[in-house]
Amino acid sequence: MSTKIILSEDEIPRQWYNLAADLPSPLQPPLGPDGKPITPDMLAPVFPMNIIEQEVSQKRWIDIPEEILSILYLWRPSPLYRAKRLEKALNTPARIYYKNEGVSPAGSHKPNTAVAQAWYNKQFGIERITTETGAGQWGSALAFACSLLGLECKVFMVRISFDQKPFRKMMMHTWGANCVASPSNETKAGREILEKMPDTPGSLGIAISEAVEAAVTDTSGKTRYSLGSVLNHVMLHQTIIGLEAKKQLEKFNEKKVDIVIGCAGGGSNFAGLSFPFVNDKINGAETTIIATEPTSCPTLTRGPFAYDLGDTAGNTPLLPMYTLGHNFIPAPIHAGGLRYHGMSPLVSQAVVEGLVTPKAYDQLECYEAAVMWARTEGFIPAPETSHAIASVVEQAKQAKEEGKEKVILFNWSGHGLMDLMGYEKYFDGQLTNYALPDDELQNNLKILENFPKAPENKTGKW
Ligand SMILES: Cc1ncc(COP(=O)(O)O)c(C=O)c1O
Repeated sequence: MSTKIILSEDEIPRQWYNLAADLPSPLQPPLGPDGKPITPDMLAPVFPMNIIEQEVSQKRWIDIPEEILSILYLWRPSPLYRAKRLEKALNTPARIYYKNEGVSPAGSHKPNTAVAQAWYNKQFGIERITTETGAGQWGSALAFACSLLGLECKVFMVRISFDQKPFRKMMMHTWGANCVASPSNETKAGREILEKMPDTPGSLGIAISEAVEAAVTDTSGKTRYSLGSVLNHVMLHQTIIGLEAKKQLEKFNEKKVDIVIGCAGGGSNFAGLSFPFVNDKINGAETTIIATEPTSCPTLTRGPFAYDLGDTAGNTPLLPMYTLGHNFIPAPIHAGGLRYHGMSPLVSQAVVEGLVTPKAYDQLECYEAAVMWARTEGFIPAPETSHAIASVVEQAKQAKEEGKEKVILFNWSGHGLMDLMGYEKYFDGQLTNYALPDDELQNNLKILENFPKAPENKTGKW
């Protein structure tokens, strides 16, 4: 019985899978400030046109350019492991498999889209890319990709993570990127927030506002913005994870997957692993697909499905998604990459349709699961990943109670070697649980009152 399956480079998937082509109820369009659907040319100051074309594409399969693959080969195909030691520790009849995305140069799944986005920008003649980052995983992934492709990279990093995770900032510098704490004094959006809230821990919504502003105000026309999650093209680039996993599960002789799990911040690693399985579910497979999130930032489990801005200052279109309101500043928990008010519209629509089930977990339960993982499987997970592991442990225990040999697959989205301060605080008893209070949630949602409503279109099949 193998511990892991490693595909050869010539077995790598050569096309990405686009769930937009198969959703039983179609996605609703992004809207401009006038409430009308935006057109691709309206996005042109923000993204290069080749990426905008992917964003709106309805094609089921999209070819992965050879040059992108040639960089992905540095760590892809990523290994699929069977977590035998965790199974043993839990004494569960479930078979637990995980895709190890921590083997990439930046240590997470984020380079899968960073490399693709940097490449498309370069093809379009762009020389400089701006972005935001939460925990620093995305910023370091884009810094890595830009460095290999010879592009300049500017990163606005959420203040709380900038302070908590100095090593990610150093990684970005090593790859030649310029990283500043957000809110910063470099943009109008940043200055306005700092004036109102000088001690704010920052948020992804604020950092996105700054990065978009920095791109669109560059008059040379050679700068564009890049987003590490949420948008359709990002979900698309990540599907290489699930497509590889399918081939690897076959080599493990698994015919069927019962449960697929991923943590969801903006939705990209979850989508990357799960969308090929969502397609199977649309076509009749009986699979439970779980997106996990923190109770402190419970976008999918407690937010409404609504039109909302992707950022705080209103520099983005209105997206149809689950949201906690674009002004929401989540508690400073250690899973920085899960502290986002919104969610990918594709993931959101899959939840509306009932194809995906969301679940929220407390910070302490996640650290407990992460430590159990590290002490059985060895690799130390990122705090974001621990939200998937908590769910895996729960499902494996349930399989034991039911006496069922379930097959559980999850995305091990990144390692936690730059996040050890969080572990240390956990061991010192300094971390607490923080479920978002209902009055705070309701207060935040008031901001949605003046936006167009997003109907929950669904077939009712799931
Ligand atoms: C390791 C890791 N997992 C998960 C996430 C959540 O992002 P997403 O939902 O886009 O996968 C992040 C974001 O920074 C991350 O760094």
